[in-house]
Amino acid sequence: MERLQKVIATSGLTSRRKAEDLIKAGRVKVNNVIVRELGTKVTSKDIIKVDDKELIKEKKVYYLLNKPRGIITSVSDDKERKTVVDLIPCNERIYPVGRLDYDTTGVLILTNDGDFANILMHPSSEVEKVYIVKVKGIIDKDAINTLKNGVIIDGKMTKQAKIKLRKKDYKTNTSMLTVTIHEGRNHQVKKMFESVGYKVLKLKREREFIFDLKGLKSGEYRTLTPKEVAIVYSLKTK
Ligand code: URA
Repeated sequence: MERLQKVIATSGLTSRRKAEDLIKAGRVKVNNVIVRELGTKVTSKDIIKVDDKELIKEKKVYYLLNKPRGIITSVSDDKERKTVVDLIPCNERIYPVGRLDYDTTGVLILTNDGDFANILMHPSSEVEKVYIVKVKGIIDKDAINTLKNGVIIDGKMTKQAKIKLRKKDYKTNTSMLTVTIHEGRNHQVKKMFESVGYKVLKLKREREFIFDLKGLKSGEYRTLTPKEVAIVYSLKTK
């Protein structure tokens, strides 16, 4: 059983808000009867019509994008800038699962499957996110250990992280690290390094759960396989 406005919205016809307007305006029928009550529950067996046209269920699609720099992670932008959704030509109303900053590159999943997105993002799934980080300065052991054990950002401690030093470059005065976390807080990696006195210059998500960038150049994408989708769904039962 699902709420009528949700079913209309996830069919890809329109947004949840606009679906509510359609219902209130008497333009929605369930089994040929006009329904004006928001929150009416329907099942997959009910026939829903908007303006007497039967709702076609949008097929579920799943993409893995290697997000380039300089693109915002959202569905639309009030300044009309290009968004990650514009990089994937498809008819379905896809949206990004989680966020990457404007200047962050790498693994980003997009889908129109809300359940799938929720599983991947839910803290209880604890999916691993692996970042390659370039910071200004030569990072010291103390900073690395502090980051491993957790630091306070936005008033809350981060969970334990795996931090591996890849390279110290004295010529450019920069350090490269691999950071593995299981959380997805806002600007988490940048804030973690900021809290120990290092500015992140470059950030790339190399992997999220089982999804990595193999075979994908910057700006390229591929569809997920049914097996990959099933593996994400299997997290729900854990
Ligand atoms: N952490 C950040 O600071 N930015 C991102 O885009 C992703 C993780």
